Amino acid sequence: MRRLFVTTALPYANGKFHIGHIMEYIQADIWVRFQRMQGNLVHFVCADDAHGAPIMIAAEKAGITPQEFVANISSGRKPYLDGFHISFDNWHSTDGAENHALAKQIYLQLQAAGLIEVREIEQFFDPEKGMFLPDRFIKGECPSCGAKDQYGDSCESCGAVYSPTEVKNPYSALSGSTPILKKSDHYFFKLSDPRCVSFLSEWTQGLSADGRTRLQPEVLNKIKEWFVTDESGKSGLGDWDISRDAPYFGIEIPNAPGKYFYVWLDAPIGYLASLKNYLDKEEIQQSVPGAVAFESFLADPSVEQYHFIGKDITYFHTLFWPAMLHFSGRKTPSSIFVHGFITVSGEKMSKSRGTGIDPLKYLSLGMNPEWLRYYLAAKLSARVEDVDFNPQDFMLRVNSDLVGKYINIASRAANFIHKQFNAQLGHVMPNGEQLLQQLQAAAPSISRLYEEREFAKALRDIMALADQVNEFVDQNKPWELAKKEDAIVELHAVCTTCLEAFRYLSIYLKPVLPALCAQVETFLKCPPLVFADVNTRLGAGHVINDYKHLIQRVDEKMLDKLFELPETLESKPTPMEKSQKSKPASAQVAPSQQPIEGEENLPSPGGEPIASTIGIEEFSKIDLRIAQIISCETVEGSTKLLRLMLDVGEGRTRQVFSGIASVYKPEDLVGKLTVMVANLAPRKMKFGVSEGMVLAASQADEKSEPGIYILHPWNGAKPGMRIH
Ligand code: 2FM
Ligand code: ZN
Repeated sequence: MRRLFVTTALPYANGKFHIGHIMEYIQADIWVRFQRMQGNLVHFVCADDAHGAPIMIAAEKAGITPQEFVANISSGRKPYLDGFHISFDNWHSTDGAENHALAKQIYLQLQAAGLIEVREIEQFFDPEKGMFLPDRFIKGECPSCGAKDQYGDSCESCGAVYSPTEVKNPYSALSGSTPILKKSDHYFFKLSDPRCVSFLSEWTQGLSADGRTRLQPEVLNKIKEWFVTDESGKSGLGDWDISRDAPYFGIEIPNAPGKYFYVWLDAPIGYLASLKNYLDKEEIQQSVPGAVAFESFLADPSVEQYHFIGKDITYFHTLFWPAMLHFSGRKTPSSIFVHGFITVSGEKMSKSRGTGIDPLKYLSLGMNPEWLRYYLAAKLSARVEDVDFNPQDFMLRVNSDLVGKYINIASRAANFIHKQFNAQLGHVMPNGEQLLQQLQAAAPSISRLYEEREFAKALRDIMALADQVNEFVDQNKPWELAKKEDAIVELHAVCTTCLEAFRYLSIYLKPVLPALCAQVETFLKCPPLVFADVNTRLGAGHVINDYKHLIQRVDEKMLDKLFELPETLESKPTPMEKSQKSKPASAQVAPSQQPIEGEENLPSPGGEPIASTIGIEEFSKIDLRIAQIISCETVEGSTKLLRLMLDVGEGRTRQVFSGIASVYKPEDLVGKLTVMVANLAPRKMKFGVSEGMVLAASQADEKSEPGIYILHPWNGAKPGMRIH
C-alpha cells in the first residue's frame, strides 16, 4: 500500500469558486479516487488561503474583521465541494493555529540555516492612501517581457516573479496615483545562496520514485529560463522578499515587531497545517486505517507528496516551496502536477459578470455534476495545456459516450434479466468470455493512464471497450432472442455477459463518476468497486436489483440557461436600434436627435444635425473614462470588429468590441490611450460580452466619406481619469 499526501492549490479566501477552481479539484479528485481504488492510503487536503493585503482591504471595505471575512467565504465552500463530489479529507485555513506555529517554526529553521537576511529596501507607498502598497495593488509593465498591466509580484504573460519596485511605469490600483518610494527593513529568503541554487537545480531535474522526471517537460523548460545566469555569473534566482509591513493580515514574524510574513510564505505551509489539523483529530486516528501522527507521517521517506496547481503559480511551487522545505530540514514534494487554464468557447475565463460558467448556477439548473467531471476528464492530460469548455461539444460528448455507449449497455440487458430470469444472472456466452477477458486485460494500461494523469487517453480506451460491448449486443440481438422460444439460454447468457462487462466498465469509470457508480453498485448489488475487482465476476446465480434509469441526457435548454445573461446583459436591440434597422443609412436619426422645429435648415456638421439640448445632469450620467488599450486583436469570423482589452484603472481589464477593424491594425493600438463609455450596460455579442464602448468619430454617411477615428487624449491623461 502506497501512502500519499495530496493537495490542490489553496484558494484565496476573497471570493467564490470559479470554474477554474472546480476543474483543478476535479482533476485532483479523479486521481485521488483512483489511488484509493488501488488500495492506497491518501490524505487529500486543502484550505483557504486567508492572508494578504487584498483580503485585509476587502474586509475593511465590507466593515468587518479579516477573520470574519474569511469565515464568511469559507462557509460558502461546501455546496461546491459536495456538489461536484470533491472528496477532500479536510478543509482548513492558513489563519489556523497550526499554520501560525508551523510558519514560525520553518522561518526560524531557515534563519538558523543562515538563509534569512534583513535589508533596507525602498518600497512603493501610496501617498494618497498612506500605506505601503501590496504587490497586487501595484500595476505596470513586466520587467522581464514588457507585458503591460501586470501585477506587482508576477507576470501572467511570461511567468516571471519579481519585486514590485522592478515594475516599469507603476501605478496604484487603490488610488490610481503614482506611488512614491519609501524605505523600510525587509526580510529576505536567500534563494541566490549557492546552496539553494545547487539544491534547486538538482531537485527540479530529479526523478520521482517511479523513475519518471519529477516535473513535466514544459515546466522544466520554464525553470531553465529562470535559472539563466547573467554575464557576471550571477544566478537568475533572486532573493525572495518574505516580509510585509503593518498594517497586514498575516502571521507576525518572530522577533520582528510590525513585520508579517508575505502571504506566499505561509500559504504553502498551509498544506502541512491542514494535514496536521486533520491528523491531530482523535476520531481520524481511530477511524482511518493507517493514519499515524502528523510529524511521523510527514517525515516518512516512503510517503509521497503531490501538489496539483495551475501553471500561473509554478514558480512558487517548484522553487520557493521545495527550498523552504529542504532547508528547514523537511522532506520535499515527490512531484508538482501543473495544469493549464480553462477557457470557455475558446475565451479566457473571466470572473466579471457575463462570461465563464458559474459552478453553483450549473448545479442549481439541475445539471449533473458528473457530466462536467466526465467532460473535463475527457479533455485532461498530463500536459500543461489549456482545456476548453465548448457547450456543443460538451453535450455531444456526454450524450454519446455516457448515455449512448456506457449506460446503454445496462439498460439493454437489465430488463430481460428481471423479466425473464427473476433478476438472476446466468452463465457467460462462450464468445462473451473472450470479450470479458479483453475488458479485464485492459486494467493495467488503464491504471497506468490514470496514474500518469492521462485521463483523456484512459477514457478514450474505456469508451473503445464500451463500443466493443455494444457491438457484441448488436451481433447477438437480445431483443430478437427474446422472441424465440428456444433461445432462452442464449438470451440469459448474452444479458449476463453484458452486465459483467458493464461492471468492468464501471470499475474503470468510477474515479470520474463516483456517484453514478455508487448507483451502479446498488443496481448490481455489489460492494464498493475497487480496481482489484477486475479479477472477479458477479457470477451465475447472482441477483441484481431493479434497474432505474441511471443518467439523463444533456438538454440543450439547460446549456442555454447556463449561458443566459441577466436581463440587463441581454443583447436586446434598443428601440433606437430597431428604428435604425428599418431606415436607410442616410436617414438614421434617433428620436432624440431629430431636428428641433424651425432648425431644419441649419447646417449639419459631419452629416447630421446637432442633437437636441440636454442638461448637465443628463450628460453626467454618461461616465466617460480614459482607457489604455492593453491588448488588441482581430476577431475570427468578423471583418469589422477588433477585440480590445481596456484598462480604466479598476484592477482588471475590460473586453470591448469595436467596429474599427477596417481602419486600425491591432499592433498600432496596443499601449495607446483612448476614451470609453465606462457605464454602458455590458452587451452580449456573438463573439463575447462587450463591457463598454470606445468613442470614435465618423461622418454620418460613411459611404460618402469613409473613415473612423478613435479619440486620443493629450499627454498627461492616465487610465481611469474621468472626462468631464
Ligand atoms: O494563486 C492562488 O490562488 C493562491 N492562493 C494559491 C496558493 S497555493 C499554496 F501555496 F497555498
Ligand atoms: Zn513578463
